Amino acid sequence: MKETLLLKPNEIEKAAEIIKSGGVVAFPTETVYGLGADALNDNAIKKIFRAKNRPIDNPLIVHICSIEQLDSLVEKVPEKAIKLAEKFWPGPLTMIMKKKQVVPNSVSAGFDSVGIRMPKNKIALDLIKLSGKPIAAPSANLSGKPSPTHHSHVIEDLNGKIDAIILAGYVKIGIESTVIDMTKEVPIILRPGVITLRMIQNQIGKAELFNGEFSSKPASPGMKYKHYSPNAKVILVKYSKNQNERTKELIELYKDKNRILILSIRDLDLNYKDKEKNNKIKNINLGKNLLNMTNKIFSLFREADKENYDLIIVQGPKEIGKGIALNNRLEKAATEIVK
Ligand code: TXA
Ligand code: MG
Repeated sequence: MKETLLLKPNEIEKAAEIIKSGGVVAFPTETVYGLGADALNDNAIKKIFRAKNRPIDNPLIVHICSIEQLDSLVEKVPEKAIKLAEKFWPGPLTMIMKKKQVVPNSVSAGFDSVGIRMPKNKIALDLIKLSGKPIAAPSANLSGKPSPTHHSHVIEDLNGKIDAIILAGYVKIGIESTVIDMTKEVPIILRPGVITLRMIQNQIGKAELFNGEFSSKPASPGMKYKHYSPNAKVILVKYSKNQNERTKELIELYKDKNRILILSIRDLDLNYKDKEKNNKIKNINLGKNLLNMTNKIFSLFREADKENYDLIIVQGPKEIGKGIALNNRLEKAATEIVK
């Protein structure tokens, strides 16, 4: 155990000093909290993997605050990447490009490419600027846990394991950035996010969404690991006109469970008042506003664990636009998917 400094948002200087001297700091971005270290310091990078218990074959995203920094990290920035950067940076888009030698293998996990993004969060940008370093950062959770969307989640997972945490409350978006591989002739989205395929196609023409199996040599190693999982069993009920019926059938089927949390997007009109009184079934209606759902989903998973729910039934949103990203995260958390 080491003592983890809890820093206020006006103490970024201190955080920057820690980064400069090879330490690790959790900081907010607009998507989720990141666990950052000097991207060019191999020793510092290893501390990130150790603290998170992250498999070493899963590469890290490097966060930058200027286009000059991009040129120092990437062999040759493709035209299409410049277009996307102009439109979406700073913002929740990570672009994978061919890396320069300076980027340590520990960051890229042995790949010859590196994922780069410029976050849209003042604290993150100031931290990168003040430390004078590009900052490598995965999400600031223990491997396998849901990504942290509030500093309390980071404290839960990493207190005593890292040098500092910047306490900045809730993040804005709540799910991780869109990851797109720009090394391909037709760029391909490896992880969907709130910057959608359509938004990208509008800027650069052809682009694709990866939806194959992540088998022996996955395009994006992170996708092969179980992810975003609460301890409770999660059942995802896919979007359909029978979604409410399916949900109710499941509640009936699993009525022997101790506590069931139902995250719905439709009004379920449940006749389970008695059970609710016993604290057995709780229904939270998230509504159809997708941003409301992306914002809350990971913290609801964490709260469900704290309150010892043993089953979470969640209704997936329609699979278009940002709904694709949300379904992707829900599918990863789910042990069972019902159509
Ligand atoms: O929003 C985000 O992206 C957050 C914040 C902190 O920026 N970061 C984040 O990092 O979600 P992480 O490490 O939890 O997820 C990065 C994903 C992983 O699935 C990883 O495999 C993939 O990006 N990735 C990173 N570099 C890659 C590369 N060179 N080639 C293929 N996939 C890569
Ligand atoms: Mg992560």
